[in-house]
Amino acid sequence: MSTWSSGYNTDLGYTFGYYREISPAWLDFVALSKSVTPPSGDWRYLELGCGQGYGLTLLAALNPDHEFLGIDFNPVHINHARGLANAAGLTNIRFEEADFVALAEQWPADWGQFDYLTAHGIYSWLQPTVCEAIVQLMNHASRAGALVYLSYNALPAWFSSHPIQHLMRLWQTTESLESVKAIETGIQRLEKLTEAQTGMTKMLPGMKAMLEKVAKHDRAYLVQEYLHDNWHPRWFDQVVEELKPAKLTYVGTASMGDLFLRSFMPQKFKDIVQDYTDPIVQEVMIDTLTNQSFRRDVFGRGAAPMWTIQRQQALLQQSFVLLNRPPAEAEIKFKTSLGELKGKAEIYTLFYDQLAAGPKTAEELMKVPASKPLGLGDIMQALSFMLNEGQVGFYRPPSDRAPALALNRAIAIATANGAPYRFAIASKLGYVLTVSDVDLMFLAAIFDHPQAAAPELSQALVERLLALGKGLTQQGKPLTQREALLPYATELAEAFLQKTLPKWRDYGICE
Ligand SMILES: C[S@@+](CC[C@H](N)C(=O)[O-])C[C@H]1O[C@@H](n2cnc3c(N)ncnc32)[C@H](O)[C@@H]1O
Repeated sequence: MSTWSSGYNTDLGYTFGYYREISPAWLDFVALSKSVTPPSGDWRYLELGCGQGYGLTLLAALNPDHEFLGIDFNPVHINHARGLANAAGLTNIRFEEADFVALAEQWPADWGQFDYLTAHGIYSWLQPTVCEAIVQLMNHASRAGALVYLSYNALPAWFSSHPIQHLMRLWQTTESLESVKAIETGIQRLEKLTEAQTGMTKMLPGMKAMLEKVAKHDRAYLVQEYLHDNWHPRWFDQVVEELKPAKLTYVGTASMGDLFLRSFMPQKFKDIVQDYTDPIVQEVMIDTLTNQSFRRDVFGRGAAPMWTIQRQQALLQQSFVLLNRPPAEAEIKFKTSLGELKGKAEIYTLFYDQLAAGPKTAEELMKVPASKPLGLGDIMQALSFMLNEGQVGFYRPPSDRAPALALNRAIAIATANGAPYRFAIASKLGYVLTVSDVDLMFLAAIFDHPQAAAPELSQALVERLLALGKGLTQQGKPLTQREALLPYATELAEAFLQKTLPKWRDYGICE
């Protein structure tokens, strides 16, 4: 544990993630749905605790006309983030190595104010004084009308996991265990406790299922989740109180499947919620009904209301693109905090058909020939479900595609050199997509040899994999030797050339 980190575990660098919920398009949709005016014009974007900076770099390349700033106190993260942004030649993003506490005391005047401020996966893992610093910082750094995104581990769901965190961290500190070892040992010891049916594990039956989930997780994520000195899941109303000094008020959830949860809750839940008049208490009651574990809250500073017609028009003009159509035979289901909801096939099929012909506005989707006319509310709810499932994305092509293409190129080349990147920008859509490392490695090979056919691509892939000490998995079977790898790599290369590459060109992942 470092001496500069206020108890924050810096043993392993953070994962290289991208969280769509922090994208301006996503935050705007939440704001619009709650009748709050989203930022417009010359907006600026700040990420607090940007980690490796991969997500922020993707957003900067997607929005080349806007300025982005990422702050993190871990020099390993900042160094990586700057390297990636430089490799893509981005000029609208910078990363600063700084501690929230120091910045709260003195916010550098020349960094200015921002219209989007995001802090993903940090708040419930910090000392209370550092959280206070974040709030002060938000106060200094946000403009009137700013949208602020804050995610955190929520109560009540984490009550049953509290011992997992406390005991793992206790064992780590008392036995000076290295972080990954502390996780491995911790899982084994906790499994022993649940098997022995101790008083505690009997009182917390949810612990066993939680441990099974934990055992399957990426170790770098688990270190970040469990091995900080501070681990403080919050009730929603506590966070609302804590953000008041920054003049922030609650707008809505960026957990898209839950955006309209109040309208599709069962009547018995609606009856419970209606017993309370305070909207904040109502939200807490919804968290108890759903046993909420993680909140992605959007707050506004001086959230300006949108007038009815203005809001309707703004919503009707939003454009959407089809990304993944569910198979025709599959049941249409959507995840929400209340579990899975079934979608009416006769309606959703109409949406998918419309979108299959090209991007559509909400207004165009409203005109699908459903048996009953659809209102704007119906369309918004359907879109929130489809967005959450990754079936559709926002259609917002950037003014200039060159930065996104340059970043995708840098991502592919770095992946071929062993970087753990899994996202690229569909520059003709204006959306970030998940991609496989193998496909990125093929793309890197295509940059070197644009006319390469499947045998050359597979050869290049196998050489890379062997050099990186990696293999492939074919139907659950690991392949590690050249002879075993080559035939399968050829199959993958053929699929890449025939299916993936043409799609990537259509999407603008590459030219
Ligand atoms: C869990 S990571 C989340 C990273 C990124 N937001 C993401 O979701 O991929 C939290 C980040 O906050 C940074 N951090 C923690 N305490 C901080 C502090 N006091 N000042 C600045 N950064 C801090 C850590 O270095 C880490 O990169």
